[in-house]
Amino acid sequence: MKLTIFAATGGIGRQALEQAVSAGHDVTAVVRNPNKLSREVRIVAADLAAPDPAVLESAVAGADAVLSGLGQRLKSDAGIAADGTRSIVKAMKATGVRRIVVVSAAPLGTVPSPDRPTPPKSDPGDGFFMRNLFSPLIKAALKKLYADLALMEDVVHDSGLDWTIVRPPRLTDKPRTGRYRTAYGQNLRGGVFISRADVADLMLRVLKQPETIKQVIGIAY
Ligand SMILES: NC(=O)c1ccc[n+]([C@@H]2O[C@H](COP(=O)([O-])OP(=O)(O)OC[C@H]3O[C@@H](n4cnc5c(N)ncnc54)[C@H](OP(=O)(O)O)[C@@H]3O)[C@@H](O)[C@H]2O)c1
Repeated sequence: MKLTIFAATGGIGRQALEQAVSAGHDVTAVVRNPNKLSREVRIVAADLAAPDPAVLESAVAGADAVLSGLGQRLKSDAGIAADGTRSIVKAMKATGVRRIVVVSAAPLGTVPSPDRPTPPKSDPGDGFFMRNLFSPLIKAALKKLYADLALMEDVVHDSGLDWTIVRPPRLTDKPRTGRYRTAYGQNLRGGVFISRADVADLMLRVLKQPETIKQVIGIAY
């Protein structure tokens, strides 16, 4: 496949890039700092905080799918998940590219957004402690980050594209196993960790699974 990977210098993005190249895909990596990439792939430099639409269009044109591991790395990246994804979606629509897979986070099922101002109070996949203790604590600590991801999810939902949103719990840098649980529209009971490599594994896997289109997918060990 011809794939365009946004944020290919990030934890998940780098894994997606490695796995996609190893699998023989034709990859374009869109990054804000090309010096951080060592792989010999087509590289497009773009800061998604202030992107040139023509550059993004050239990066996605002709792609079978777009993968994004975009997220806030620095304080100055606040709001980048929604804003950057909005620009990616715009470029895809302008060039007729339809398939997109993005990364959100496990607590997002219960975070309000403009499209979903009163989400369910708890995620059906969360157990007692996650529901009543950990999830409220994490959501309070990462309120701004999750507000950005909630807006990003709205952008993706409303895009009219063939989207999949992956919602991982706590990320680790452990190796890819290819063995993890997934669930549509909810988290996994007792699933607290997943490696960035396995999130990337799922992002590539869903490209061969049309049933994952317009689905939010929980993932965990
Ligand atoms: N940490 C966790 O446990 C956890 C759990 C669940 C979900 N998540 C979410 O998962 C997502 C990905 O996680 P990760 O660990 O792979 O993130 P990461 O390593 O911080 O990567 C973020 C990527 O976004 C890029 N980026 C940020 N601002 C940009 C901009 N203005 N223009 C272009 N690129 C930009 C970064 O580029 P640079 O390399 O140039 O900085 C980097 O490639 C994040 O949204 C995060 O919130 C995290």
